[in-house]
Amino acid sequence: MSETEGQDTRRTIVLTGASRGIGHATVKRFSREGWRVITCSRQDFSTDCPWPAGPEDHIRVDLADPEDIGFAISEIRRRLEANGSRLDALVNNAAISPKVNGGDRMDSIHTPMHVWRDVFQVNFFAPIMLARGLYAELQTAGGSVVNVTSIVGSRVHPFAGTAYATSKAALASLTREMAADFGPAGIRVNAIAPGEIDTAILSPGTEKIVETIPLRRLGKTAEVADVIYFLCSGQSAYVNGAELHINGGQHV
Ligand SMILES: NC(=O)c1ccc[n+]([C@@H]2O[C@H](COP(=O)([O-])OP(=O)(O)OC[C@H]3O[C@@H](n4cnc5c(N)ncnc54)[C@H](OP(=O)(O)O)[C@@H]3O)[C@@H](O)[C@H]2O)c1
Repeated sequence: MSETEGQDTRRTIVLTGASRGIGHATVKRFSREGWRVITCSRQDFSTDCPWPAGPEDHIRVDLADPEDIGFAISEIRRRLEANGSRLDALVNNAAISPKVNGGDRMDSIHTPMHVWRDVFQVNFFAPIMLARGLYAELQTAGGSVVNVTSIVGSRVHPFAGTAYATSKAALASLTREMAADFGPAGIRVNAIAPGEIDTAILSPGTEKIVETIPLRRLGKTAEVADVIYFLCSGQSAYVNGAELHINGGQHV
């Protein structure tokens, strides 16, 4: 740790959903660059899947519970005091994508409303609650917010449920609105929209989709983490309100 007069001078990121998949690759990427990574997810720090941030920078929070998010924000702000109450990046990565038994798509006719509400709470409301709650710290650092959307926010997908897809479309619109509202404070807000990335979220049958992707392969979690890193770095200093496709050309 680099410290000046007791202060942690590392750049700091708050990352939701770090325990596996894209989030896990992201925590490794930022740690490698010397960032302090504060991770948030439902489970305790996992010793089966340890990440470099370590248990001391992990916060247990259920993003499906608005009250719990409030507690988490207070705890994050307290922990950021060690960094001069500066937050360089907030990455809203955690999401849920419920499926019917067997992994089939939950359509708009049958999806129970309580499922729809849970999906929107985790995938859509949690990101704006966190960004608003950490606004002052982001402003102090001239920080960056990255919302993780999805290719399914802009097209019907054979496996992704309707609640998930609409939550990601809403998050893409929110990114545009936030870019306008947070920009004057020096905070950039962008999104990344992954396509088929090699993680546990994928359904059986994805091989068929891969045959139609111009690059003819799944994406790697590390390839997504690289783009998130780019959007949180000075290399993208004039990029604001963008949604970057990471899909091997699947959207063309
Ligand atoms: N994989 C893909 O192909 C793909 C494609 C397009 C978009 N995406 C997007 O990329 C992001 C990451 O996807 P992934 O496949 O890496 O996801 P994943 O493997 O399913 O991991 C989801 C993460 O979110 C956390 N999480 C879930 N519900 C939570 C809750 N209520 N409160 C707090 N944390 C919660 C999980 O941790 P806990 O279980 O510990 O809570 C986990 O760390 C998501 O936004 C997803 O929609 C993925």
